[in-house]
Amino acid sequence: MESHCDETIYLLGRSEAETTRLNKQHRFLVAISGGELIHPSIPIEGITAVADVGTGTGIWLADLAKRLPNAPSVYMHGFDVSDAQFPPDNTIIGPQGRKIPLNVQDGLKPYPAEHLARYDIVHIRLLTAGLPQDGYATVLKNARDLLSNPPHLNPENAMVYQDKILTNIEPTGWIQWEEVDHTTFCTNKLPEHPAITKLRNATIDAMLKLGLWPFAPQRVFDEISKARFQNVRRETYTTVGKEHLHEIAPKWVANVMRALVPPSMVVNGQARNEEEGKAKVEVLIRQFEEHCEEALPLVNFGVTVAQRCD
Ligand SMILES: C[S@@+](CC[C@H](N)C(=O)[O-])C[C@H]1O[C@@H](n2cnc3c(N)ncnc32)[C@H](O)[C@@H]1O
Repeated sequence: MESHCDETIYLLGRSEAETTRLNKQHRFLVAISGGELIHPSIPIEGITAVADVGTGTGIWLADLAKRLPNAPSVYMHGFDVSDAQFPPDNTIIGPQGRKIPLNVQDGLKPYPAEHLARYDIVHIRLLTAGLPQDGYATVLKNARDLLSNPPHLNPENAMVYQDKILTNIEPTGWIQWEEVDHTTFCTNKLPEHPAITKLRNATIDAMLKLGLWPFAPQRVFDEISKARFQNVRRETYTTVGKEHLHEIAPKWVANVMRALVPPSMVVNGQARNEEEGKAKVEVLIRQFEEHCEEALPLVNFGVTVAQRCD
């Protein structure tokens, strides 16, 4: 039976307010990465199945179901270690009443047989707040097992297939893993405001204490590069040069800090409980927001895409 799993470390909460924040955050992350849900180097024509690992509220899949040109013929499935933020009945109701199932599944454990080699694209986003340092390789290995295999090379079709790889037209076997680097949170104004240093360090210290990994985009790229993948590509998206995000970026950062820093302060012994942490964080956020009247928060959102190979 599916159930909410409370055993894993998770620095963010799973309240209704956090569900709302994740859904709003989705808009910002899509906007910062050029408005696309799937990186343009992944061919989407002809895809038949997409999975989302660590799906949270399922917002990425819900949006994909609205946007994919061939969505009605694409099977979609979400997995998360907890169902606490899933929509009712663990189901996303997409356009035309289309149902997208969400399942409790720890990405650190092997997936049931019916999901293996089934998906053309596996998407993963923002596991940093709950994924231990030594878990990245395991989540990747299990996610790789979900991916369909590109056609096997044999002497007759090798050249044809090689052309397809080179022109990236094979829709099979792609992973897209997106993470924020918590260590690079700053603004474009020097000297750094002490409130920013305090907010950033509180998160980094707590993550390291809990065995989590604040430099996630680099880790994801390194793990994918070491595993059996080809066509590996990394993008780093920032707010620089994106005028349309300059007003919203400080609000997004402030809300991330409101979610992450109070529990971090408790872990670090900087606050006795989350309420005390929240009060301290509000003071720092007011200073950060004042500073942002003249400064732009620099966000580092890293995406690695790659295709499974054997
Ligand atoms: C910050 S939320 C992001 C949700 C969603 N990917 C998004 O971008 O909106 C992180 C999610 O990862 C899930 N998670 C953390 N560790 C996991 C694991 N080992 N396996 C599956 N899901 C995990 C959490 O339960 C949470 O729902």
